[in-house]
Amino acid sequence: MTRILVVGATGLVGREIVRKALRDDRITRLIAPTRRPLEPHPKLHNPLVDFDRLPEDAGWWAVNSVICVLGTTRAKAGSDQAFRKVDYDYPLAVARLAHRHGAMRFALNSSLGAAAAPRLLYSRTKGEIEAAITAVGFSSLTIVRPGLIGGDRNEFRAGEWIAARVLGALGPLLPRRFRISPAPKIADALVEAAIAGASGVHLIEADQLAAD
Ligand SMILES: NC(=O)c1ccc[n+]([C@@H]2O[C@H](COP(=O)([O-])OP(=O)(O)OC[C@H]3O[C@@H](n4cnc5c(N)ncnc54)[C@H](OP(=O)(O)O)[C@@H]3O)[C@@H](O)[C@H]2O)c1
Repeated sequence: MTRILVVGATGLVGREIVRKALRDDRITRLIAPTRRPLEPHPKLHNPLVDFDRLPEDAGWWAVNSVICVLGTTRAKAGSDQAFRKVDYDYPLAVARLAHRHGAMRFALNSSLGAAAAPRLLYSRTKGEIEAAITAVGFSSLTIVRPGLIGGDRNEFRAGEWIAARVLGALGPLLPRRFRISPAPKIADALVEAAIAGASGVHLIEADQLAAD
């Protein structure tokens, strides 16, 4: 029986995780700290938090596993520092606090190309958060590296919309690693890793998350 904490629960992948986790009988409690309330559910604890002031001693940090699907874009964040806060500082703070309270497993949503292009803010930051969370020392760490995430967004992102049309049209002609990674497939990988991830560090690359 597993208690799981998910951060980023209101996002595209996060919403899929909440749906799956609430249906999965292996998960007894889902803790989802967010800044906007989620729909209530008997299995869900949804503390409203300010990620700049996480409550370090809250009892709900005591979970078996953590799933991190926090993230933003440089455009949405407004500055390099604001982007880094959401994609590096917050995930690392959550990882350290949950580890201190006894969490054994961590599943991180990173990205295709993490660390591959250190001059690019996005790639560099994803590489740095992968390394920083590895150093926290979870018994089991799973890092998933999706390509462009497919699903219904609550907001319009022009670049991603165009890329999705192009990748969608090319579909099976593309090598698997460059195809769209559907949000439900990413959520499956993260939830399984949180429940049953073996000890050690595991990478799940975009080709394993590609749309068929
Ligand atoms: N977009 C892609 O195609 C793509 C490709 C590869 C990897 N990724 C990575 O995959 C992960 C999940 O992506 P996604 O598309 O599911 O993300 P998303 O839909 O943009 O959701 C991001 C989540 O992070 C939260 N968040 C953002 N800024 C925050 C802040 N300042 N304080 C607290 N929470 C904040 C959001 O909460 P609110 O709802 O409150 O804003 C939301 O829950 C991200 O790390 C992303 O970088 C994305």
